[in-house]
Amino acid sequence: MVSPMTTVLVTGGAGFIGSHTVVQLLKQGFRVTIMDNLDNSVMEAVHRVGRLVGPHLSNNLTFYHGDLRNVHDLDNLFSKTNFDAVIHFAGLKGVGESVAKPRRYFHNNVVGSINLFQVMANHNCKKMVISSSATVYGQPDQVPCVEESLLQAMNPYGRTKLFVEDIARDIQRAEPEWRIILLRYFNPVGAHESGQLGEDPRGIPNNLMPYIHQVAVGRLPQLNVYGHDYPTKDGTPIRDYIHVMDLAEGHIAALRKLFATDNIGCTAYNLGTGRGTSVLEMVAAFEKASAKKIPIKMCPRRPGDATAVYASTDKAERELGWKAKYGIEEMCRDLWNWASKNPWGYQGKH
Ligand code: NAD
Ligand code: UFG
Repeated sequence: MVSPMTTVLVTGGAGFIGSHTVVQLLKQGFRVTIMDNLDNSVMEAVHRVGRLVGPHLSNNLTFYHGDLRNVHDLDNLFSKTNFDAVIHFAGLKGVGESVAKPRRYFHNNVVGSINLFQVMANHNCKKMVISSSATVYGQPDQVPCVEESLLQAMNPYGRTKLFVEDIARDIQRAEPEWRIILLRYFNPVGAHESGQLGEDPRGIPNNLMPYIHQVAVGRLPQLNVYGHDYPTKDGTPIRDYIHVMDLAEGHIAALRKLFATDNIGCTAYNLGTGRGTSVLEMVAAFEKASAKKIPIKMCPRRPGDATAVYASTDKAERELGWKAKYGIEEMCRDLWNWASKNPWGYQGKH
């Protein structure tokens, strides 16, 4: 069972999904240590997490600046604190960048995860929730995607996610005392309702909603819509967008499941809404929420994009007792609240 003193290590906890999850963990009484190398995040996000939960609960939050590629960083951390479980977000997530820099991706995401498994085993901490991705379904033949679907990677980033899933399955099979949940996220968007936490990518965003954010606040002139000749209702691809706060709750449901189930093994759950939305529908929902016009330019398809990807959420509903609460209206409302309060992200305009 989860007790008030349950202590969780959150790797990558300064990042987009991690920071939102840490807020909810603290609010629900967990003690949290974030380990992050700040490669794709800033300390300001961690400070804001502390302010959001208030002075009392922020006493339960510790930040450790460390890198998963460095076993000594991990060993040092595990020697100081007894962790009951780990939520493992840390990783690089750029599909295009992974094609250009595969060694960097395999080293960071795969070697980093192997180091984490090793140090956890050495310190007898064997409960883990791992960030996976709908990318492991590749270009799905059938939607909605169910957890038993064929897994296939389309690029080095996807391969790192698939390798880490396979490594987790192999370790758990050999050492049955491990309890591991793999969470396959669909398209995380939105922001904390306060407008204090959100997604703040470095450089030009790769993903749809951060790009729309930057167009809405005047940082970019227009949205390029990649492909309008797909066999869908309006010709643009369909995705399953999920509010980041729903994802945060999904992690806590998974964590509770790990503590409550001794024979969970290594099992995967989709975290999505089960609903598909096209690019143009998302643009329209954001325009409505923000009262801003998003100029668009129709462009050729982006290589590697699937026509339609959305989740079956039955397994997570049934076994985790978790279901997404928010729809695209709330996702766009909260994204606009974050974007209008932080047009240039956490650090403002330089
Ligand atoms: P993010 O980049 O905002 O957060 C990842 C965090 O990990 C960052 O704070 C980064 O500094 C840290 N990090 C990276 N490498 C590290 C290392 N070697 N040591 C320590 N810290 C390290 O990304 P996010 O959107 O919050 O994604 C979190 C996880 O979810 C990632 O594993 C990602 O692949 C996965 N995921 C994300 C999406 C998405 O669209 N955002 C979709 C599916 C899966
Ligand atoms: N899109 C545009 N213009 C843009 C950006 C995106 O039209 O500037 C379109 C894409 O073509 C796609 C849709 O918006 O049709 C969504 O694209 P994203 O890049 O936001 O998301 P993807 O579904 O391509 O990929 C995301 C993550 C991957 C992850 C995958 C499944 O970026 O890491 O979801 O979880 F693997």
